[in-house]
Amino acid sequence: MVRLFHTLSPAISRLNFIHPRIFLAASPSIRLQRNHVHNKLKPKISPSSSSKFQRTRAYSTTTRVSSLTKRESWKLDDDGLVVLGIETSCDDTAAAVVRGNGEILSQVISSQAELLAQYGGVAPKQAEEAHSRVIDKVVQDALDRANLTEKDLSAVAVTIGPGLGLCLRVGVQKARRVAGAFNLPIVGVHHMEAHALVARLVEQDLSFPFMALLISGGHNIIVLAHELGQYTQLGTTVDDAIGEAFDKTAKWLGLDLRRSGGPAVEELALEGDSKSVMFNVPMKNHKDCNFSFAGLKTQVRLAIEARKIDAKCPVSSATREDRRNRADIAASFQRVAVLHLEEKCERAIDWALKLEPSIKHMVVSGGVASNQYVRSRLNNIVENKNLKLVCPPPSLCTDNGVMVAWTGLEHFRVGRFDPPPPAIEPDDYVYDLRPRWPLGEEYAQGRSEARSLRTARVHPSLTSIIRAADSLQQQTQT
Ligand code: KG4
Ligand code: ZN
Repeated sequence: MVRLFHTLSPAISRLNFIHPRIFLAASPSIRLQRNHVHNKLKPKISPSSSSKFQRTRAYSTTTRVSSLTKRESWKLDDDGLVVLGIETSCDDTAAAVVRGNGEILSQVISSQAELLAQYGGVAPKQAEEAHSRVIDKVVQDALDRANLTEKDLSAVAVTIGPGLGLCLRVGVQKARRVAGAFNLPIVGVHHMEAHALVARLVEQDLSFPFMALLISGGHNIIVLAHELGQYTQLGTTVDDAIGEAFDKTAKWLGLDLRRSGGPAVEELALEGDSKSVMFNVPMKNHKDCNFSFAGLKTQVRLAIEARKIDAKCPVSSATREDRRNRADIAASFQRVAVLHLEEKCERAIDWALKLEPSIKHMVVSGGVASNQYVRSRLNNIVENKNLKLVCPPPSLCTDNGVMVAWTGLEHFRVGRFDPPPPAIEPDDYVYDLRPRWPLGEEYAQGRSEARSLRTARVHPSLTSIIRAADSLQQQTQT
C-alpha cells in the first residue's frame, strides 16, 4: 500500500457489543455437523436461529458471535475445514482458499499497478472502482484454482478493517453475498492481526505468546501477542508508517511505482553507498518503542532537492551521475529507516520479555517485511536477544487473501464468527466497517503524547471487543 489519501468511511465505526441475551439466544442454535460428502465440518444453523440473529443486526453486523465453548471447538477437524479469505482493504484485490491444516489451496491477487503509477499513491474512489471491477473474478478464480465450489466451504473470512472504508466495503459486500447465498458463517478479520497470524501458518512452532513487528504502508506497530485476539501494543508510529516513507522516496526519486515504491527503492539501494548521505535516525531521544517517519521523509526530500534530482525524469533515463546520486539516497534512506526499526525493536523485546518471559519468537510481517535488508538486519537484533525471527515469504508479507482465510480459520475454530447473512441484502445496506481499528490495547509505559491526541473516530480495539465479549459470555454462563 502506498500513501493513503485518507478518507474515513461514513459507515459504522462504533462499538458493537453483543447483548448478553443475544448470546443466550445464539448459543444453543449453532452446532457443528460433519458433512460426509465433502468430509468437512460446518455449523448447522437452524431457521429459528436465523430469525433471532436478524434482530441482532441493528447492533452487530459482522461482530463475531461466539457460539462454541472452547471445549466444543476441539471437535473441529483441521483437515475438514476450508475457508475462503477476501481482502480489499487498500489497493490489492485478493482471495484465497485455505484448509484448516494450513494447506493453501489457491491464492489470487489483482493489483492496481497502473493506478498506483498514475496517481502516485492510492486514490480511494479509483481503488474502490478497481476492486468492484475485479472482485467477482478474483473470488471465482480462487475457487476454481482450489478446484472447489462455494458449497465446499466451511466459512467465508473477510477483512473489515483497518483500511479504506470504500475499499473494505467491496470485499465485505462480496463476502456477505457468497455467505448469504450458500448459508455460510462469516468471520470479520482485522487486517493487521492477519499479517501477524499468517506467520503461524508458515511456522508450525510459533505458539503464543510471541512478538510481532507489523510494517506496511499504513501501519507500523509492534505488539505482544498473548493469545488469539489478545494483543498489547508496545509501540506505533506517531505519524507515517515506514512503507509510506519508502513509497514517497520512490516517487521523488523517479522510480517505477507499478510494483509499489518499496521494491523499487530496495533494488536501487543495492547500487548505492548507504553512508553517503547522513540522515538523522528518528526519535533517538525517545526512550519508548514508538516510530516516526515523517521527519525522515522530509530529510529525503531536501536531499533530493539539493541534488537537483528531477522526479519527472525516470531513473531509467537518468545520466550515470544522476543515477548514482539517486542510488546513494535510496541506500542511505533505507539504512537509516531500518536502523530506526532496529533500535525500537531492541527495546520492545526487553519490554516484552519482562511481561511474558516465555516468548521465543518475533514475527516481522506486512509489506515492508518482504525487504531483504530489513529481514537480515532485524534477524541480527532478534538473534542477539536469543529469539527466533519468523518472516513469512514475501508473497504472504504483502497483502493477500491467505492471511485473511487463515486468521478467519483461527477465530472460527474457537467459535468466533457471525451466522450466515440473509441471501439478499439491499445495495445500501450499512456494513460494519472499521477504517480506524487498533489491534491491541496500548501499553501504558509506551504511550506517546503525540499519538494520544489522534483518537477521533477510532473504533475500540479488537482486543477490547474480544475481552468484553468473553467476559459477557462468562457472566451468562455463571
Ligand atoms: O502490507 P502491504 O502490502 O499493504 C498495506 O497494508 O499497507 O504493504 C505495502 C507497503 C508499501 O508501502 C510497499 O511499498 C511496501 O509495503 N513494500 C516494501 C517492499 N515491498 C512492499 N517496502 C520495502 N521493501 C520492499 N521490498
Ligand atoms: Zn497490509
